[in-house]
Amino acid sequence: MQETNEILEHGQDYDGIKEYDNPLPQWFMVMFYISIAFAFLYMGYYTGKSYGLVHATPVSQNLAWSGAVLAEQMRAVENAKLPFEEPKDHEALESFLRTPGNISKGEAIFKANCVACHGEQAQGIVGPNLTDKFWLHGGKSEDIVLSITGGWVAKGMPSWGPVLGPEKIHWVAAYVLSLKGKPVTNPKAPQGVEETE
Ligand code: HEC
Repeated sequence: MQETNEILEHGQDYDGIKEYDNPLPQWFMVMFYISIAFAFLYMGYYTGKSYGLVHATPVSQNLAWSGAVLAEQMRAVENAKLPFEEPKDHEALESFLRTPGNISKGEAIFKANCVACHGEQAQGIVGPNLTDKFWLHGGKSEDIVLSITGGWVAKGMPSWGPVLGPEKIHWVAAYVLSLKGKPVTNPKAPQGVEETE
């Protein structure tokens, strides 16, 4: 055991101030080491995996912090910034066109660009009724995307590909597809071939 209450010699005089060379009290050192151990446990618990969130309620989950959850959120933000990729196959196209968020974005585009010819309810004016079962150029998802992208310029349907770009084309196609069978007032007389599905 170290002697206590010995004067610590600095070899230099500091304005006559002297101090004892006593060890830190044991209770202090115990707390010091416990806090180091606790820091590692805490860090592992919250940043390693989302273990720390297992018992969280939906509210506290929003407030709680976890490295794993943060990484996930950052990945979502990064993905949202990726350029639009055209759906690769029929399945992917269907699922994109049936996504409610895409349909509502498409509705805004339809209101801004298409109502002049297709009508407020898409019931048809110069352009055909888009809510009935009759299609001039096909009512399948792929056909609709094609009609909007390329247009039927000679027949008065503009080509929207260069105007809207592929992402907005797919949104508005989602909206058009969602209109199938929607009841409208004053529908335009059917044009084209009836498609039963
Ligand atoms: C300038 C008028 C005009 C505008 C604006 C217009 N269309 Fe058309 N659209 C037409 C006409 C006319 C046709 C029919 C073409 C034909 O007879 O082959 C048509 C056809 C279509 C078809 C094919 C329908 C079928 O029966 O196969 C779709 C789908 C369509 N339009 C969607 C849209 C969308 C979506 C927009 C807005 C982005 C839009 N149109 C804007 C005039 C227009």
